[in-house]
Amino acid sequence: MAQYKRTLITTALPYANGPVHIGHLAGVYIPADIYARYLRMCGHEVTLVGGSDEHGVPITIKAKKEGVTPQDIVDRYHKIIKDSFEELGISFDVYSRTTSQIHSETASEFFKRLYDNGQFVERTSMQLYDEKADQFLADRYVTGECPHCHAQGAYGDQCEACGSSLNATDLINPRSAITGNIPVLRETKHWFLPLDRWEPKLREWILEGHKEWKTNVYGQCKSWLDLGLQPRAVSRDLDWGVPVPVEGADGKVLYVWFDAPIGYISNTKELYPEAWEKWWKDPETRIINFIGKDNIVFHCIVFPAMLMAYGDNYQLPDNVPANEFLNLEGNKISTSRNWAVWLHEYLKDFPGKQDVLRYVLTANAPETKDNDFTWHDFQQRNNSELVAIAGNFVNRAVVLTHKYFQGIVPAPAALDDIDKDVMGQVAALKGKIADAIETFHFRDALKEVMNIARLGNKYLQETEPWKVAKTDMERVKTILYVALQICGDMAVAFEPFMPFSAHRLADMLDIKKLDWNVLGSDDIVPAGTQLAPASLLFEKIEDDAIEAQIKRLKDTEEANRLAAWQPAPQKEDVDFDTFMKCDLRVGTVLECERVPKADKLLKFIIEDGMGTRTIVSGIAKYYRPEELVGKQLCFIANLPPRKLKGVVSQGMILSAENPDGTLCLISPSGPVQPGSQIG
Ligand code: 2FM
Ligand code: ZN
Repeated sequence: MAQYKRTLITTALPYANGPVHIGHLAGVYIPADIYARYLRMCGHEVTLVGGSDEHGVPITIKAKKEGVTPQDIVDRYHKIIKDSFEELGISFDVYSRTTSQIHSETASEFFKRLYDNGQFVERTSMQLYDEKADQFLADRYVTGECPHCHAQGAYGDQCEACGSSLNATDLINPRSAITGNIPVLRETKHWFLPLDRWEPKLREWILEGHKEWKTNVYGQCKSWLDLGLQPRAVSRDLDWGVPVPVEGADGKVLYVWFDAPIGYISNTKELYPEAWEKWWKDPETRIINFIGKDNIVFHCIVFPAMLMAYGDNYQLPDNVPANEFLNLEGNKISTSRNWAVWLHEYLKDFPGKQDVLRYVLTANAPETKDNDFTWHDFQQRNNSELVAIAGNFVNRAVVLTHKYFQGIVPAPAALDDIDKDVMGQVAALKGKIADAIETFHFRDALKEVMNIARLGNKYLQETEPWKVAKTDMERVKTILYVALQICGDMAVAFEPFMPFSAHRLADMLDIKKLDWNVLGSDDIVPAGTQLAPASLLFEKIEDDAIEAQIKRLKDTEEANRLAAWQPAPQKEDVDFDTFMKCDLRVGTVLECERVPKADKLLKFIIEDGMGTRTIVSGIAKYYRPEELVGKQLCFIANLPPRKLKGVVSQGMILSAENPDGTLCLISPSGPVQPGSQIG
C-alpha cells in the first residue's frame, strides 16, 4: 500500500426496492467499513463511498404492484437504508443516490463521450414485447424456463436457480411479468458496449496483473474471459432511468448496470465537487470495490471496460474483494419471500447492540464460501465470546482499579517476565491483525482481536491480583497497570470492527483518540489517568429475545407456504353413472368421543334416518367432541366398513383441507332431515 497516497473504497449500491439485510451487511458493508476505519486509524487518506441504486426493473415492478410511482419506492427505501447504515456505524463519507441530478448528468456525459468516440455498436434486434401492456419487456419483466438448468421462474436477465446470466429472448416459454401474456418479438434498436474489443486488455490486467485477487473473483473472471466476451447492451426500452442522451433514443434509458457503477463517480463528485478527480484519475489513488459475488462480472469486466473506453486516465480497481453469500437458518436470503433479518428491524429489536451484529457477521463472514446465520449462533457468540471473554476482562480490570486505587491507573513497578510476556504477545498480534485486514481476511483479523481479550483474561487468571492484594499492593499496581494497557489495546483493535464498544471503552479509559499506531505500545493508558466508572461493554442476550426472532421466521415460512398454495389439480373426469353410485347423505351427530390411543381420531354415532351408524374420522386435532354433538354433517354412506384403531367405521365424514393443513367439516347450510341424500 505504501506507493499509494490515498484509498477510495466503494460499496455496491444496494437497490432501493427494499431495506438492507444481514446478507448485504456481511458481504459488503461491514467489511468495507472495517477496512475504511482501519486505514483511517493508520492515518491513511480514505474515502468510503456508498449510495442507493435507484434505477432498474425491480423498482418499477414493485411500484406497479403497489400502485405508486418508482420515485415513491426509492424515496421510501433510500431513507430506510441510509438511516439504518448510519445507525449501524457504517462510516460513509458520502451516501447518495442514483436519482440525484449530479448522477444523471455524470452518467449521461459518460455515455455521450463513449458514443461520440465510437465506443458503442448500434444493433437492431428482436426483443420481447407485451402487446397488452404496450411495452418492451426488459430484464425482470419476463419470466420463463431457464435454458440451462430448466428451472421455472427464471428472469429475463438471470436465472436465480443456477446463477446464469441470461437474455430475455433465451427463456423457454416466456411470460410477461406485467400481464402474464405470452410476449411477441418486436424490433428495437440498442447500444452495445463491445466487450470483445477490450478482452485482450482485460486478460492482461486481471489474469496477469491481479493474481493476488481472491480465488473466487479471479476464477469467475477467468471463466468469463475464457468463454470469450460479447458485446453487451447498455440501453433498455423503459421509462425509468437516465434517458439515453442521443437523438432517436426516445423511450430508452441507460441500462441500470451501466449507470450504477458510474454512481461511484457521481457520489465522489457530490462529496468533493472540486477535488473528485484526484480520487479517480490519479495513479496514486488506490480503488477498492467491495461487492457480493453476483456483482463480480460487472465490476471486473464491464465497468473496467467502460472506464478504459472513456480514457482520460480513469484508474481501474486495484482489488475487488467480493464475498460469497450468507444464508439465514439454512435457506437462501430472499427479499421477495421476506426471508431475511432486516437491518432496520434488528436495530429496533436490539437497541444499542449494533456491535453484536457487526461482530457476529464478521466472525461468520462468507469470505471463502457461503455461510449460514442462525439466531442461536448469534446468541452464543454474544454470550460466550463478547460477554464472557471481552466484557468480562475489561470489567474485572476496571472494577479492581476502582476497588484498590479509586479508579486511578497505578504506576507500575519493574515488570516481571509474565508482564513482559503478555505485552509482547499483544504487540505481536498487532502485525497479524494488520496483515489480515490488509489482505481482506476480516474473520481472521477479528479472531486475533479477540485473542487480545483472551490473553488479558489468562493474564488476570494467572496473576490473581485479588489474592495478591492481601500481601503485596505494589505488585497489584503493576498487574492492573498491565491489564489496563491490554484494555487500551482492545479499544484500539476493536474500533474498526466494533466502533461503539471501542469508543465506550476508550471513554472508560479516558483515551482521547484511537490511533492504530499506539496498539501494543506500553502506555496507552498512562499511570495517573482517572478511569470512568466501570460499565458493561456487552450484555447477555436472553432466550426469549432469540425465540421471538425464530418465531418471526417461522411465521414468514408459514405465510410463504400459504402464498404459494395452489389448489390440487382437478382429477380425471368420471362418468355420471359412476358418480351416482356414490351415496352422499346428511346425518345428525348423536354422540362424539375421542378414540383411545389415537390422538387424531373421533368416533361419531350418527342418526342417518335409517337408524344409527358409527363413523370414525381423523379430525380430532381441530374439534372438541362435545362441540359437535347435535351438528349435522355430510358423509359417504356406501363405503365398505373399515376398522380404525379397533373401531369399525361405517362411512366417511366429509371435510375440506385448508392450505395450512387444518380440516373443516362440511355441514348443510340449514336444517335437513337426517338421511337426506346429497346430489
Ligand atoms: O446487485 C445489486 O444490488 C446492485 N444494485 C449493485 C450495484 S453495484 C454498483 F455498480 F453500483
Ligand atoms: Zn438456470
